[in-house]
Amino acid sequence: MSESSILLKSDIKFFIKNFLKKTLGIQIKKVRKEDARIKSKVSVSAIKKLIRDKGFAVSDGQASWFYTAYERGDLDPLTNFAMTFLETNIDKKSPILITGCGTGIMAFHLADAGYTNIAGFDYLHECVEVAQQVSIMGNYNITFYQDDGFNPKDTGQKYDAITALHWVFSAWMGNYGNKKLAAEKVASADFREELLTDFLQKYSTLLNTNGVLILELTDAVSDYRIPTDHYLGELSKDIYPIRHSPEQVEKCAAVAGLSVISKNLSVLYGHHPRAQYILRKL
Ligand SMILES: C[S@@+](CC[C@H](N)C(=O)[O-])C[C@H]1O[C@@H](n2cnc3c(N)ncnc32)[C@H](O)[C@@H]1O
Repeated sequence: MSESSILLKSDIKFFIKNFLKKTLGIQIKKVRKEDARIKSKVSVSAIKKLIRDKGFAVSDGQASWFYTAYERGDLDPLTNFAMTFLETNIDKKSPILITGCGTGIMAFHLADAGYTNIAGFDYLHECVEVAQQVSIMGNYNITFYQDDGFNPKDTGQKYDAITALHWVFSAWMGNYGNKKLAAEKVASADFREELLTDFLQKYSTLLNTNGVLILELTDAVSDYRIPTDHYLGELSKDIYPIRHSPEQVEKCAAVAGLSVISKNLSVLYGHHPRAQYILRKL
């Protein structure tokens, strides 16, 4: 390519990116194609119709998170990492629990990858109902039920893998109908550790020895993120206020009989840097 075509290509890209950002508020991010992981056997348009019919396709004047969830494709490196980890480390017959499963996107992905013993629960009954309907449409054999992930019921089943992806930090903010935490407490290190220890202890009891919990948290680096680095400015300080450092996670995990075997940070997807921990039951 000649020098002038290289520069023209670069200028056109800049113009389009700027145009989309300024007129439509769309920010284009580059993602490596080979990380694409999440697929769906049931058509996305059929799932979207179910979500529209259940009345939760729109929230705060825009398409809801659930409506666009299946458009995630390869955008989230942590989801991709978690799926790859499970597929390479966990036996296909192992019992797996997907907490905060939404409309079931990860459960279906794992079933398509050959897992035969999957259960998923969500706090919102409409999510569970959509997941159950998609399950019938795709001829899946997955148990979906309604439950509160902060107080999961003991069904007597122990798991080799449990995921808590993409919801705990948001639920701690009071989203999805969860209890909002007292504003004066959320910055306290002790309070954050109490919440995390309680959470880890609850799931530790549901794991088989050597089983893994994959948990996503907002990282404590967000505490000193400069507001001008975020499109919501000062408001960004209040988004996902319960944040943990890797040291805190290690400490709370030890109390709960778990050990951190892997940690990954992502800044590409979501409001704040998120860390995904893989914790093994000792
Ligand atoms: C952003 S969605 C993520 C869904 C799914 N984990 C994924 O990554 O595609 C968050 C989900 O967490 C669920 N959720 C929020 N609070 C919960 C709670 N206390 N117990 C169980 N699920 C909860 C919400 O209802 C919602 O379906």
